[in-house]
Amino acid sequence: MKHIVILISGAGSNMAAIVRAAKREQWAERMGARVAAVISNRPGAAGLEAARQAGIATAVVDHTAYASREAFDAALMAAIDAHAPGGRPALVALAGFMRILTPGFVAHYAGRLVNIHPSLLPAFPGLNTHQRAIDMGCRFAGATVHRVTAELDHGDILAQAVVPVLPDDTADTLAARVLTQEHLIYPRAVAALLRARPNAA
Ligand code: GAR
Repeated sequence: MKHIVILISGAGSNMAAIVRAAKREQWAERMGARVAAVISNRPGAAGLEAARQAGIATAVVDHTAYASREAFDAALMAAIDAHAPGGRPALVALAGFMRILTPGFVAHYAGRLVNIHPSLLPAFPGLNTHQRAIDMGCRFAGATVHRVTAELDHGDILAQAVVPVLPDDTADTLAARVLTQEHLIYPRAVAALLRARPNAA
């Protein structure tokens, strides 16, 4: 069985979209893949409850309890790998996970780590992507699924979706429009990666 571990910090709507797709498209039966756990760095993340209701194991690794990034990432790695009997999971999907990861963490999951970012990378890495797109007068915005490297929001692009920026958009209305597309492209990109890794753990 290929295990997927999803990391969240907040609402977890992308996580929920992946969980729904896995059920609807019968990933377990057809690809031998399942969402093994959802892990949050924030104890109050709303997505944790949604994951529990979907019958998925959850864990919290609270970054405020660790003195350094390295110590937090080591604890996070242990929590993730605890959900993959063979060692590391086939895929670790960052879904609104708002922490910068250390090079050691990225190396540990090399080739197995993906993220969704709410902009058309390489435009607007980092935070406040929607307001920055509006401020720059962009006519289009979107989201990107990409591999995670040690450089923030810079790995290979796996999927993108484009939406228009409308004249009256605020960061919130644009974010909502982009999010609907995130929910389509992220599960699709995850499924494509799982199909491409027949021998993964
Ligand atoms: C999503 O828009 C995601 O692209 C973004 O946070 C939101 C999380 O929503 N991620 C980042 O900004 C990563 N730097 P969700 O918790 O409902 O999936």
